Amino acid sequence: MGEKIESASSAKEMFGVMPDATVHTHTNHGAFDPSAKLSLEEIQELDKKYVLQNYARMPVAFHYGAGDHLYDTNGKEYIDFLSGIAVTSLGHAHTDLVAALTTQAEMLWHTSNLFYNQQQAQLAHALVEINFPGKVFFCNSGTEANEAALKLMRAHGQKKKPARQKIVAIKDGFHGRTFGAMSATGQDKIQKGFGEMLGHIEFVAADDIAGLASAIDANTCGVIMEPVLGESGVVPLSLDFLKIARARCNEEEALLVFDEVQIGMGRSGHYFAYQHYGIIPDIITMAKGLGGGFPIGALLVAEKYSTVFEKGMHGSTFGGNHLACAVAYEVIRTIESEKILDHVRASARYLTSALNKLKEKYADKIIEIRGLGLLIGIVLKEDIEAAPLLNKALDLGLLVGRAGVSVLRLAPPLNVRKTTMDQAVEKLDVLIGGISH
Ligand SMILES: Cc1ncc(COP(=O)(O)O)c(C=O)c1O
Repeated sequence: MGEKIESASSAKEMFGVMPDATVHTHTNHGAFDPSAKLSLEEIQELDKKYVLQNYARMPVAFHYGAGDHLYDTNGKEYIDFLSGIAVTSLGHAHTDLVAALTTQAEMLWHTSNLFYNQQQAQLAHALVEINFPGKVFFCNSGTEANEAALKLMRAHGQKKKPARQKIVAIKDGFHGRTFGAMSATGQDKIQKGFGEMLGHIEFVAADDIAGLASAIDANTCGVIMEPVLGESGVVPLSLDFLKIARARCNEEEALLVFDEVQIGMGRSGHYFAYQHYGIIPDIITMAKGLGGGFPIGALLVAEKYSTVFEKGMHGSTFGGNHLACAVAYEVIRTIESEKILDHVRASARYLTSALNKLKEKYADKIIEIRGLGLLIGIVLKEDIEAAPLLNKALDLGLLVGRAGVSVLRLAPPLNVRKTTMDQAVEKLDVLIGGISH
């Protein structure tokens, strides 16, 4: 059963489609093989020609990954201490995740939120069971989770008499690139070039307790913050700052949102950083590690506010589809079965202590080792730029990130092995030893 394909001739050539090709209801394998390996140069050429040039990419393309290692198109091996920016939290090609993905892929990928969805309902149950009585909204990324949070804060404010709109956010925080999330991101470099931002957002400096206490007032519908500033240098906020946020939000009946997109889903050594601090927000946003590399985001809303979004007020076509939820469920199952949270805490102690030895060795270059769990910042002296070090680390076979101008960001997979940490520290020793300033 099939019908004639009417496609442009160049597309026919590219995909190897024959003139009399038919559309089959099940499989439609053409000559085009997306798994055929291209060289880095070929990939770069295609990227330059066909992909918007909004990313400053490093000169490498990866061919496959295994656990805490990646392999590039030339077969060179790298230790992955970046995890796709804190995403592939159980490493690459984890057998149980691959099994969950492929089993679900053979059953059902997507039906939309017009219908009930077993995988979505079960994942929501698992997230709530983690220790947050409430309900979940699913989306596809961190910025979308934060957009949902911003809308929910506003909707909460609109129900007050008189209505209120003000949202308090943290200077130098990061919440994403869509318009609302960008507007709540208090960084000129992110907002520059787009004209007016969303109004009614007031920024307070991180850990400015008095500033936060007075910014949250009777006009405030909500407060959004990352408990650990990820992009801006891996800076854990102080407990006192979070305490005052909670107390003032209670007094003013404003919603407290923790953006745990980067630190959440185990990276802090707890499922969520709020558990480390013992301060319970009204809303948690998450993404990154939630799907272990499969795109999914979520908003966890405390029971008390779970009816703020009424039917039709928010939605997503893809959000929480069968495939994404099956994988994310398996991520949580694996975190439990492999006792990953204990492993994160032990690994964080081990790695931080090794890095502190490097700090003593290179006291003229490293100011501080800071972070929470397996999100760690190596804070370099102000005159040392982290950016050029990333390419040097690549040459040494180590992938690390950057957060702020002079901070190297380490985000290894949560199941990183001890031997891999030892090798990574050896490479960091060479990297930092080689800095001339
Ligand atoms: C704390 C935080 N919030 C939001 C985002 C945006 O997430 P996404 O890139 O998935 O939209 C990020 C991404 O780095 C983040 O670190």
